[in-house]
Amino acid sequence: PAPPPPRTPSPGPSVTEAFAALGTAAGRQDPYPHYEAIRAHGPVAELRPGRLVLTGYEDCDRALRDTRLLVQDAAGYDALSPGWRSHSSLRAFTSSMLYSNPPDHTRLRSVVNFAFTPPRIRELHAVIAEMTDKLLDRMARLGAGGAPVDLIAEFASRLPVAVISTMIGFAEEDQVWFRDMASTVAVSTDGFGDPAALERADRAMDEMTAYFTELIARRRREPRDDLVTLLADTHREHPDTLDRDELMGTLMVLLTAGFETTSFLIGHGVMLALERAAPAARLRTETDFAARYVEEILRYEPPVHVTSRWAAADTEVAGVPVPAGSRLTLVLAAANRDPRRYADPDRFDPDRTASRPLSFGAGGHFCLGAPLARLEAGIALPRLFARFPHLTATSAPVYRDRWVVRGLDTFPVAVAP
Ligand code: HEM
Repeated sequence: PAPPPPRTPSPGPSVTEAFAALGTAAGRQDPYPHYEAIRAHGPVAELRPGRLVLTGYEDCDRALRDTRLLVQDAAGYDALSPGWRSHSSLRAFTSSMLYSNPPDHTRLRSVVNFAFTPPRIRELHAVIAEMTDKLLDRMARLGAGGAPVDLIAEFASRLPVAVISTMIGFAEEDQVWFRDMASTVAVSTDGFGDPAALERADRAMDEMTAYFTELIARRRREPRDDLVTLLADTHREHPDTLDRDELMGTLMVLLTAGFETTSFLIGHGVMLALERAAPAARLRTETDFAARYVEEILRYEPPVHVTSRWAAADTEVAGVPVPAGSRLTLVLAAANRDPRRYADPDRFDPDRTASRPLSFGAGGHFCLGAPLARLEAGIALPRLFARFPHLTATSAPVYRDRWVVRGLDTFPVAVAP
C-alpha cells in the first residue's frame, strides 16, 4: 500500500509561541485564540521534553483522576524553587489540601469535607438569599438616580466573602478587610513571578495570621457553631490530624479559593446576561433556568483557567507517554471548549444538557466548594435581575490582568433607568 501522506505541519504558531503569548497582557485579555493554536498541535501538546500542555476535555479529565499525577507540594517546591519557605504566603497555601497529596490530602480534606456536602450547603439557602437581598438594597442606595455602581466591588465580591466569612466565623465588620487581604495573598498562587507582589502577599499573610491567632484564642474561650471553632478543636484534640500550619493553611484556602472565583462567576453571569436579551428575562421568569445558566457560565467563562500536575511515576494520557518527572499544564478553560466534547463550543448556550464542564476540576482535588459556588450564583443572579429589571452596563467590564484565576476587576452598571 502507498505510504500515508506526510503530516502537514500546522500553519499557525508553534506550541511554544502560543504558550508564550498567554504570558503577555494581550494574551491574558483574550486567551482563547491561543488555546486553539495549542489545540491545533493535538489535545496533549509537547512544549518541550517533559512539559505537556493539555487542552482536550477527556485528556484533562483523565489526568485529573490519574493517581500517578500529583499536585506540587512542599517537597516539590523545595526541589523547584529553593528559598520559597521564607515566604509566609506560600507556606500557608502549601500547608493546605490544595497543595497536598495523599495521605496528607485525604487527612486535611476530611477535617472540613462534611461541612461542604450538597445537603449541608442546601441548608444555607435562606441565609444566602437574605445576604443577597441586603447587598441588593445597598446597590439600590448607591445607584439611586442612575449613578454607576461597580458590580464587582459592591456585589459580586461581597456575597461570597459574606457567606464564607459567616461559615468560618469572622465578624461582619471585618469582611471587606478580609476580602482585600485575601486577594493580595492570592496573587502569590499565580507563581513566583513578581517579587514585589510576593512581598505584599507575605505582609498581608502575616496580618491575617495575627487575626486568625487572636480569633482562635477567643473561640477556645467561647466556642461557637462555626469552622474556626471546629478547626481549633481539631488542632487541640487531634494535633496529628491538623497541626498549627495546617490549621492556618485550611483557613486561608477556604477564604481565598472560594471568594475571587465565585465573585468572577457572578460577574461573568451578569456580563453574559447583559450582552444578550434572553437570559436576563429567563432568569427572572423560569425557576429552573438559573442552574443551567450557571453551568454554562462555568463552561464558557470559567474563573479558573488552568491547573497543573507532575508525574510521580511513568504514565500516559491519551496514548501519549508521560515519563516520571514530567510537568503538565491542564488548561481547563480550553477543555471546556473542546469541539470533540461540545458542539459549537464557542457559542454561549444555556440550554446545553449534561454539560459537566471541568471548571471545578475532577478527581481527588475536585473543588470542595462547588456546591456552595453553584448555590450562591444560582441565588444571586435571578434575585439581581428580578430586583433590577433595567440593569445596564454603563461602560465596558475590565478584565483583571491575570491568567490562572481570570475574571472581571470592575464592571460599572446602572441599577435604575
Ligand atoms: C479546588 C475552582 C469555589 C474551595 C478547586 C479546583 C478548582 C476550583 C478548579 C481544583 C484545583 C486542582 O485540582 O488543581 C473553583 C471555582 C469556584 C470555586 C471555579 C467558583 C466558581 C470554591 C468555594 C470554595 C472552594 C466557594 C470554598 C469555600 C476549594 C478548595 C479546593 C478547591 C478547598 C481544594 C480541594 C482539594 O484540594 O481537595 N476549586 N472553586 N472553591 N476549591 Fe474551589
